[in-house]
Amino acid sequence: MYVQANQAPRRKPVTVPLLQEMKAAGQRIVMLTAYDASFATHLEAAGVDVALVGDSLGNVVQGRRTTLPVTLNDIVYHTAAVARGLEATLLMADVPFMADRDVARALEAGARLVGEAGAAMVKIEGAAPHILEAIGALVAHAIPVCAHLGLTPQSVHKFGGFRIQGREDEAAEHILAQGLAVQAAGASLLVLEGVPRALGKRLAASLVIPVIGIGAGPDCDGQVLVVYDLLGITPGKRPKFSKDFLAGNGSVAAAIAAYASDVRSGAFPTPEHCFD
Ligand code: KIV
Repeated sequence: MYVQANQAPRRKPVTVPLLQEMKAAGQRIVMLTAYDASFATHLEAAGVDVALVGDSLGNVVQGRRTTLPVTLNDIVYHTAAVARGLEATLLMADVPFMADRDVARALEAGARLVGEAGAAMVKIEGAAPHILEAIGALVAHAIPVCAHLGLTPQSVHKFGGFRIQGREDEAAEHILAQGLAVQAAGASLLVLEGVPRALGKRLAASLVIPVIGIGAGPDCDGQVLVVYDLLGITPGKRPKFSKDFLAGNGSVAAAIAAYASDVRSGAFPTPEHCFD
């Protein structure tokens, strides 16, 4: 840790190798979405490890039903804004729908999100052959990749809705195989969304890379939420896997700090936030 004159000690910058060390040391990783510089400063102050500029911005910022209309320009714009509010927190940006349809476009997305907007890694949904190829190409170009499996929102039409994935044995085995495949392709992190708790536990135990859950139970190596869900301001019904941390905490800063503390201690998520 380094100290600047007349300033409190700053946090050690979170890096991709540090996330791997955290898993090895059994330290839970705290991840949260952000879409602008003001929220980013709150994540930074709360010591959140990873800020994700998710394509969930299509839902919570743009008011869309799905993430599919979100463009690469949208993610670049919001990633650059979030980058201005961060210091030590690692910045991850989503590769939006169809920006990964071939290796050339995936590399173009990586170049813009990392080179232009300031992300340190990109997140890409699925494990289809072209995605595995894209992961390998991004990593070969020194762009770390977070994979995203389970209830991947960009596949909403294929799934027939936002449905929990991996409930049947065959489906669970398929997601486990996908996890091993994205790891072998070079991914350094995995977001696992909307799967039964037992499958979250299995993936975290089977993979070397950290598994960050959202609706995947408490046995993952870390947790991620959409910040608007955490503050209870997303319109409509609160997702089961989320919790309103603003209730009882009084301010945005306190709510984000409580989330970070509860993830680190294992107090969040509880069974009421999990799926069987
Ligand atoms: O877009 C997003 O915010 C995400 C998280 C829900 C993991 O992908």
